[in-house]
Amino acid sequence: MEIHDDQFFFGGVSAVELAKTYGTPLYVYEEERIRENFRRALKAFQKYYADFRFFYAIKANNNLAIANILRQEGAGIDAASVNEILLAKQLGLGGEDVMFSGNFLSDDDIRQGLESGVIFNLDDPSLLPRVLRYGKPELLAFRVNPGYGECEVGSFVCNAGPDAKFGVHPDQVLDAYRAAKAAGIKRFGAHMMPGSSIRNPEYFGFITGLIMDIIGKVSRELSIDFEFIDLGGGLGIPYRHEDAVLDIDAAAAKVAKVFKEKIAEYGMKPPRLMMEPARYFVGDAGYIIGTVHTIKDSYKRIIGTDIGMNVLARPALYGAYHHIYVNGRERDHRKPVGLCGQLCENTDFWVHDRPLSENTTLGDLVIVENAGAYGFGMSYQYNGRLRPAEVLVKDGKSWLIRDRETYDDMVRHVHVPDHLK
Ligand code: LLP
Repeated sequence: MEIHDDQFFFGGVSAVELAKTYGTPLYVYEEERIRENFRRALKAFQKYYADFRFFYAIKANNNLAIANILRQEGAGIDAASVNEILLAKQLGLGGEDVMFSGNFLSDDDIRQGLESGVIFNLDDPSLLPRVLRYGKPELLAFRVNPGYGECEVGSFVCNAGPDAKFGVHPDQVLDAYRAAKAAGIKRFGAHMMPGSSIRNPEYFGFITGLIMDIIGKVSRELSIDFEFIDLGGGLGIPYRHEDAVLDIDAAAAKVAKVFKEKIAEYGMKPPRLMMEPARYFVGDAGYIIGTVHTIKDSYKRIIGTDIGMNVLARPALYGAYHHIYVNGRERDHRKPVGLCGQLCENTDFWVHDRPLSENTTLGDLVIVENAGAYGFGMSYQYNGRLRPAEVLVKDGKSWLIRDRETYDDMVRHVHVPDHLK
């Protein structure tokens, strides 16, 4: 994103032009930023541990145009559901380029996951006999809950630790692999996902130690040569401008140091090191452009835009912070105002007391930052307010990568029985 003369540009295309061409609310993604983010992170991790690979957690932004950028950069796909495995297939990825890390799976999920031939990552030992009913996965992992997790996402609860629904209890991990080995499974990996949006490099070294102490013992006890260890996602980005950027080189150095020490300590054959981030790649490459439609001066001034919690759920859901700009008005004198969308719920009043230009007026464009991860993917059509369009930008060009939803889309799957007509 660039600002020239107080006008916002994305990939060289102005916010005004994008809004005029595609309407608002509009998700805009900068292709080059995604590539830069990926390359920066890959370079850091490969510098300290050559056999390293990223899988992209496609849940954060499942637009196939976005996922194709990451595929071109060499990422595999982390899939949370069978449909996400199908998305990966559409990218031309399958087999060991895709990891299925679903949780609380149905038998259908298990059957289809197994048939798809991707790496199967089990969230609980109870799944193993259910998987074996349909066949034997070529390469199997268990998702370990190492008893500790962290998260910087508002009041969002962690992905690991005693209160998380994910992963295998450390006391059950050895028996889980023992049972899998006894069932004739030959190739193994291990996985965890203990936190999201972490900007402290120490954290990544710390969690590496947690999983390696659990898996190192399993490796020794059962004579398993683990083929990979996947540390999950969690590489954070600064949502507030005063927040520090994650020192990715320091994080990679700490991870690799602990990883190598633990390999030596447990006498392991060096496994591939994997991570499956999403936010770090796509989060700061995405913006939402909205339009100011109504301004109200009541108990306080409230600026109403077309960016409601249906378009960006994170503030209403987690109390998450997103920086907001007003195109053409960043140099103005500021006054604290509220900002809301157009839904009939007060959680849609998602910004209170934010200093924005006191000249903000109808028709102005509002820009929401860091919307590339968990933005569109968590949008919905409540109140008949439909999902926005998505656009990719690069080198002064823009491409529509998802149509704006229409009324027909909203009613397409609805059926009214004859007796009600
Ligand atoms: N792997 C697994 C198994 C995951 O569940 C997730 C995210 C990731 C990788 C990627 O994590 P990341 O690198 O993006 O932190 N909706 C929330 C975040 C939920 C994270 C869910 N799991 C938000 O808007 O911040």
